[in-house]
Amino acid sequence: MQDPDQPGAVRGAEIGGGEHRRITHRHPSLRSRHCPDALDTIPSSSAAPISARSRTGLAMRPVWTKADLVCSVLQHILQLEYRGVLHMGAPQIAIIGGGIRGRIFAETTHHHPSAELVAICEPNPARAAQLGGELGVPTFESIDALLDSGAELDAVVVATPDFAHEGPAVAALEAGVDLLVEKPLATTSEEAQRIIAAAERGGGRIVVGFENRWNPLFRTVREQLRESGNALVSQRALLQDTIHVPTEMLGWAALSSPAWFLMPHSLDMATWLSGAEPVEVYARGVRRVLPALGVDTWDRISASFAMSDGSILDLDSGWVQPLGKPSVFEFRFEIETTQEAFVLDIDASGARRTTSERTTTVGSPSHDHRGRPVGVAADMMRDFLDAVGGADLDLPGAAHGLLITRAIEAVHRSLETGAVQPITS
Ligand SMILES: NC(=O)c1ccc[n+]([C@@H]2O[C@H](COP(=O)([O-])OP(=O)(O)OC[C@H]3O[C@@H](n4cnc5c(N)ncnc54)[C@H](O)[C@@H]3O)[C@@H](O)[C@H]2O)c1
Repeated sequence: MQDPDQPGAVRGAEIGGGEHRRITHRHPSLRSRHCPDALDTIPSSSAAPISARSRTGLAMRPVWTKADLVCSVLQHILQLEYRGVLHMGAPQIAIIGGGIRGRIFAETTHHHPSAELVAICEPNPARAAQLGGELGVPTFESIDALLDSGAELDAVVVATPDFAHEGPAVAALEAGVDLLVEKPLATTSEEAQRIIAAAERGGGRIVVGFENRWNPLFRTVREQLRESGNALVSQRALLQDTIHVPTEMLGWAALSSPAWFLMPHSLDMATWLSGAEPVEVYARGVRRVLPALGVDTWDRISASFAMSDGSILDLDSGWVQPLGKPSVFEFRFEIETTQEAFVLDIDASGARRTTSERTTTVGSPSHDHRGRPVGVAADMMRDFLDAVGGADLDLPGAAHGLLITRAIEAVHRSLETGAVQPITS
């Protein structure tokens, strides 16, 4: 296939039928947001090589039915839209936070065929200059500076540290734009509620970045659970990082915890797989290694949840695994129903590399051969962009984000009190 980022790619739809036609039909850059099924209506007989066409493509045909005419005009409009002659409004996107996640979201938008990356907001000047320079977009030190500049936006992605989601999220939503906010929605339920109230005032939509829903393994298991319909007995997830994450990767680990950083992933997945909600939790934790290194947070947290369907859920998350581990993270998920059991080793797929000192996971590449981000975060971002462009997609929303925030808050309350804590919804 041709490069869909190049104008010539449109010709794929014009040249003919068969498999080639089927593939290009699905490509987002060939579909009008306002007439998504336009290509469906084009009979293959009306498709002629572009070189055989007049400027309008109409004069070369000896006999024209009404359907031919409509289809040809639709094709023409699609070409014009793709070339930017008719600007039908590529969504204008800004990324807030130019760190690890912000870079993935910015690069994904940069490569998206029908969205436009218009700004990056990042207070670290060196990071801002690097990312903005690479992607050729203006940078601002904050979302307030961006909004003051009069920028026209359709959506904003908030990828700031866990504790710093509320400020930019509220500013974006009050400006009336859509929002993708990284998990957790916020680290207090009051902040999460203020974000939701801002969306109600401004009219924007909130999507919370529970990226594991884009993992095909989890999707397949969820489908099989739905098909079998067996009641759940238990779920258990081990999700932990090596000590690299809180001591080297994140500059703000002391203001978060393994529960805020990791458990939203596993808790969201447990609710998404089961359809059940957490109703109460008892948690235990250890603070030994990280505080001694000056990072004042929990090393490891173990939380046992009662779920609304009568099943139990045990989540274990930690930040002190030794650097010698083959991968920076370890993620194992187990599900038991009345009739079956599933085990998912999310970290264990792919290749491993062994030297005389150590075996490491080669891992999946973060970019494809043309530099486009790949993986669950990029897939999630593409769906968000498509939704901003008008696609009707089922994406994790604000009410669920608030539930997860309330549940992780209850984990911390239980750690502090040593007692079982209810999770109110
Ligand atoms: N790193 C991961 O593996 C991962 C995975 C999933 C989700 N997340 C979530 O994504 C979010 C970001 O994590 P990260 O790993 O990219 O962190 P990071 O530290 O790499 O990046 C955060 C960036 O936000 C900037 N920032 C801080 N306050 C800001 C503000 N008010 N406005 C604009 N920028 C601001 C920081 O300077 C930094 O560059 C967190 O909520 C995290 O839990 C991270």
